Amino acid sequence: QTIHQKDYTVPDYLVETVELEFDLDPGETRVVSRLSFICNHERGASPRPLVLDGEELTLLSLKLDGAELAPERYRVEEESLVIDAPPERFVLEVTTKINPATNTALSGLYASGPMLCTQCEAEGFRRITYFLDRPDVMAVYTVTLRGDKAACPVLLSNGNLVEKGELPDGRHYAVWHDPFKKPSYLFAVVAGDLVHISDRFTTMSGREVTLEIYVEERNRDKCEHALLSLANAMRWDEEKFGREYDLDVYMVVAVDDFNMGAMENKGLNVFNSRYVLASPESATDDDYQAIEEVIGHEYFHNWTGNRITCRDWFQLSLKEGLTIFRDQEFSADMQSRPVKRIADVKSLRSAQFAEDAGPLAHPVRPESYVEINNFYSMTVYHKGGEVIRMIETLLGREGFRKGMDLYFERHDGQAVRVDEFVQAMADAGGRDLSQFMLWYDQAGTPVLTVTDAWDAGSGSYTLTVKQSCPPTPGQPEKKPFHMPLVMGLLDREGNELPLALAGEGAPSGTQRVLELTRETESFVFTGLSSRPVPSLNRNFSAPVKLDYPYSDDDLTLLMTRDSDPFVRWEAGQVQALKQIMGLVADFQAGRDARVSESFIESFRRLLDDDRQDRAFLAEALTLPGESYLAEQMEVIDPSAIHAARELVRATVGERLSAELLRVRQKCAPAAPYRPDDGLSGCRRVNTICLSYLMAAGGQDAIDMNMAQLRRSDNMTDTLGALAPLAGCACPERDEALGLFYDKWRGDRGVIDKWFSLQATSRLPDTMDRVLALLEHPDFDIRNPNRVRSLVGAFSQANQVRFHDASGRGYRFLGDQILRLNAINPQIAARMLTPFSRWRRFDAARQELMKKELERILAEPGLARDVYELAEKSL
Ligand code: ARG
Ligand code: ZN
Repeated sequence: QTIHQKDYTVPDYLVETVELEFDLDPGETRVVSRLSFICNHERGASPRPLVLDGEELTLLSLKLDGAELAPERYRVEEESLVIDAPPERFVLEVTTKINPATNTALSGLYASGPMLCTQCEAEGFRRITYFLDRPDVMAVYTVTLRGDKAACPVLLSNGNLVEKGELPDGRHYAVWHDPFKKPSYLFAVVAGDLVHISDRFTTMSGREVTLEIYVEERNRDKCEHALLSLANAMRWDEEKFGREYDLDVYMVVAVDDFNMGAMENKGLNVFNSRYVLASPESATDDDYQAIEEVIGHEYFHNWTGNRITCRDWFQLSLKEGLTIFRDQEFSADMQSRPVKRIADVKSLRSAQFAEDAGPLAHPVRPESYVEINNFYSMTVYHKGGEVIRMIETLLGREGFRKGMDLYFERHDGQAVRVDEFVQAMADAGGRDLSQFMLWYDQAGTPVLTVTDAWDAGSGSYTLTVKQSCPPTPGQPEKKPFHMPLVMGLLDREGNELPLALAGEGAPSGTQRVLELTRETESFVFTGLSSRPVPSLNRNFSAPVKLDYPYSDDDLTLLMTRDSDPFVRWEAGQVQALKQIMGLVADFQAGRDARVSESFIESFRRLLDDDRQDRAFLAEALTLPGESYLAEQMEVIDPSAIHAARELVRATVGERLSAELLRVRQKCAPAAPYRPDDGLSGCRRVNTICLSYLMAAGGQDAIDMNMAQLRRSDNMTDTLGALAPLAGCACPERDEALGLFYDKWRGDRGVIDKWFSLQATSRLPDTMDRVLALLEHPDFDIRNPNRVRSLVGAFSQANQVRFHDASGRGYRFLGDQILRLNAINPQIAARMLTPFSRWRRFDAARQELMKKELERILAEPGLARDVYELAEKSL
């Protein structure tokens, strides 16, 4: 049941061409598949059987080279179709029947609202027809779609449309041909009553491409931003990487029921509608950014994923880590680079570091899996992205670009491993990256313990860096990693000092990339006149935990003077962390807890500094989140964390109300909202100031929220006012939530936000509210976005209420996972993560969470997805 990386063997047969015919119907779709096979092993006397993958299929007929295959020549098994001793070259024609309407797993061909669509990554194609459903089997596809003209006037598949026409009985057909060889996971079909908006794009070599976004009629006016983002992404990939688009048409379809964010099917991306649809009234600034990012991500896959794909699923990060890195860079170029970096580091540290520290920790390139869908993880995607970023830092921008060019030159059209990518980088950069490969194979977050020594006599300063990495499942010992540590040195006035490494002669600039390769190493800087303050891991150059004993003065210096925005922000976070963890200890010891004056002062300084970019200021004003704080504790105490963080928020709100109001005033909206008005930083600052004022309490703050709610012309400000109200034990809470619901009840995306706001309210009655919302007519357990907005938000973004000592939160989540298990295993498995952290809590909570995991494991008919995570968690 467990698949191991080391067991990889080349496929016994290859497929050269695939011809598919679909008679589309929601209740019963017939699929005829004509596959031309060629033997790929030394045949000898006894050729190996052909074993095709298949799930939930009804086989109707099977022909080999045109002749019906006798029953004794094949077997249909639970998850495969086996043909003994086929010839060396042959054409197999398989006819199967599938039922999209009952496909609630949303993998394969399924119905979403009025349309039929597919999701084939990772192993959904086998739910459409029998096939060698693995990424190293690449073929050229021709697809004929037939369907009812009224129900599905639009019939789409990959590649270029070659023919379409009428059929009897109100039906019609379309034929699509994709000239590029592709693995089955990139196959897609969409059929439905859709409208589209379109644009033209001329590539750098002068080819004309049609861009089309398909949606249901009611969403026609919500696609403009996605279309614009697509053109921007295409231009960006040409400019930054010299990559241009390769088909005549690029289509994006928005569907409401989707397990993940989006899918990069060749020429026909299928998207979760939340990453396509936006209007100025209904979408927040963050929504606009997320759309740009995901549109970019899927577009960039065309080269990093589609033209060059993965040999096997262990190599998933080959395409995902690299494409995450590319979409991060795209967003950084379109928005504010420092603020984007901060946001990415925040999500990495709160979610990926936690994954790396728990029972589900796995390397960026896992060694084994039971269900591959469980490895579409923060580690494979986001740590994978950090690994690519480190290569860029080691090679420099130019070297990295050369490496990318070489990678495309060598491997276009192939299915390769991570090794081939890293080798191209090593060859282009003239570097040895063999030790660097450990990042792909060792799990766990490394810790850098930094100490220093100052020798006034010789003016030399020694930094000693010791790296370690905690054990993870199956990996008790770790070898040292090769990593870039970008750093600088500041004097007490905050000047950046020229860096001269002992033995190197003249200083070279004020910033260096120190390369770590050994467990402990020292770097001696000379020619200094006083003890410097080290500025370490600038731009978060390595995805590690950094341990250096900064004093409060050091932190203030870095916060106000460092040249690296990430370090400036981080210094503030470290200060806040120290403050909050101190209060946590006070609460736990029953001591009087009080926020320090110096902390208030440093917040005052931030608020008084008018030169700061507003979006950066908003990040600097945001305290570390409760889950990140939890990660810092040996035994997590959710109530103490919540109480301590709230105390800081309330104190800031009270003591700095004048400053907060002043900053808000300066950011007051002056003109009607436009998503691209350049004021999103201002809106962010506004929101955070309002939340501090609200934390301090009082009717004035409530009135201010209500006023903002009434006058807001955009979703960012509306939610900025509504979120604090949803967490306020005041009559205005239900009033505001009710008004909001009445206004937006027809808009799925907005109603998702309405569910999440209530699920993440820190008020003590939240569990009851969540249970009531489960019964709300708008709650639909089969819709992944709705499940995420209620079940996911409550259990993953409301630590204090989910971990209520009574265990009610755990019971609730266990119930929902079991419900989902029977409907959509992928989503059920996604909901399980909070339970995987059970060992980090006190004995009573451990017991309660363990009981839920055991209850889940005892369920008859548990899906592979859920089984694997529950079993590994225990
Ligand atoms: N390749 C897609 C992306 O990164 C994710 C699709 C994964 N889907 C799944 N069911 N595992 O954009
Ligand atoms: Zn991706």
